[in-house]
Amino acid sequence: MISDSGISVIGSGYVGTVVAACMAKIGHEVVGVEINPEKLAMLQGGSSYFYEPGLDELLRDGVDNGNLTFTDDYELAMANSEVVFLCVDTPPGEGGHPDITNVTAAAKSIGMAMHSPHVIVTKSTVPVGSGNWLTSTIENVLGDDVDSDVFSVVSNPEFLREGSAVRDFLHPERIVLGGTHPEAVDAVAAAYDPILKQAFPGGRATDHPILVKTDRSTAETIKYAANAFLATKISFINEIAEICEWVNADVKEVARAMGLDSRISAQFLQAGVGWGGSCFGKDVEALAATARAHGQDPSLLEATMAVNFKQRHRVITKLQQHLRPLRGSRVALLGLAFKPETDDVRDAPAITIAKELANRGAIVRAYDPLVKQIPELPDLQTSSDPYAVVQSADALVLVTEWDELRHLDFEEVASKMRGNLVIDGRNVFDPARVRAAGLTYEGMGTGHEITPRASDAW
Ligand code: UGA
Repeated sequence: MISDSGISVIGSGYVGTVVAACMAKIGHEVVGVEINPEKLAMLQGGSSYFYEPGLDELLRDGVDNGNLTFTDDYELAMANSEVVFLCVDTPPGEGGHPDITNVTAAAKSIGMAMHSPHVIVTKSTVPVGSGNWLTSTIENVLGDDVDSDVFSVVSNPEFLREGSAVRDFLHPERIVLGGTHPEAVDAVAAAYDPILKQAFPGGRATDHPILVKTDRSTAETIKYAANAFLATKISFINEIAEICEWVNADVKEVARAMGLDSRISAQFLQAGVGWGGSCFGKDVEALAATARAHGQDPSLLEATMAVNFKQRHRVITKLQQHLRPLRGSRVALLGLAFKPETDDVRDAPAITIAKELANRGAIVRAYDPLVKQIPELPDLQTSSDPYAVVQSADALVLVTEWDELRHLDFEEVASKMRGNLVIDGRNVFDPARVRAAGLTYEGMGTGHEITPRASDAW
């Protein structure tokens, strides 16, 4: 049905831009579609409008060598490609289901610009069953007199993480493809061939990803199940962290030893203020909504979300316990992005914490290496220097574990602060160094004072 030919990528958000730039890097001719004029102009100039390590270089290379072009014209993109990656965003919508307005609009535009055979590849995280829905939507646009075999929809969930998206795309552990027509699935597999064989400049001979071919609903479910599992793993260790505080155990040691069991693995066992970002919350919520829509009671997924919600509030509780009263206290927040190496603040724990503190009358100042303002919090004071935000602070809270913040000079911090409380929301500081500077250390399930009980003397 399809020969090896051009690729188009609809939607140039976090996922689409990385897909377009990486597909150009591995040798394809790629047309990226973006309808926002400001974003389009930047991409056409070879630079990204958001921060992602390594991405600007790939965009520049692709634009310069002609493998990568950007347009707002669906006709042009479709005419120059047979494999079309659908990467438009699916923000949180009503009742936990993702909002698929943008996917619907893109599907209609695709249908209107389809004049030859195409494989439509869904990378957007869409509710399970959306492959079938997308097929019907495009068929409706094509009308009854067009052979519906002219196109096929393949689900190809994206597992890349912000902050390491380029590396994750070029060196994945697995590529999942789900479809109803084997030749369409094979056409998408062919587009990934250089990655599957790691046959591109910078490919790693030892890193061959595993190709999983399956049906469409299974592929769509794999994405949700993977994110829900990772989110659950984090909530699990955060619940253990709270228990650790009550029984004088150290969650960092617990997680390290748990992770040495290869059935468990050490990844995503870092206790702290919990997960944020555009994916985990939305995807766990969406999976739970799908379960509820089928009369199920998704209690494990609900608990995953409840524990995560509680983590942000545990920071407030800790502050309230130490700073009595919290009202009028000065709190320095270090880190605003939902994790290091990104400027993304969607569902960032820092936003909830800053809002809650403001509601309780605390005075908040924040520092982040990349994020300088948050539209939801217009009054939030920020500074371009971490030592300036701790000036006269009663407490410092580390929210995002940026590398530069892991190595703070606590002597200098102590000399600037008015109070002495350090809350390590990511368990990355060395408690001994913090205490040596005369500060009080409070981690999330770690670093509390271990006082031997009488019975331990035996
Ligand atoms: C996540 C998944 O990891 C990707 O595989 C997936 O493709 C992506 O969602 C998506 O659906 O698009 P991402 O949201 O970019 O990627 O970020 P993660 O690295 O997974 O981190 C998510 C949150 O979990 C961050 O706030 C991070 O600080 C937190 N986290 C992570 C912890 O609290 N503890 C950990 O041990 C690990």
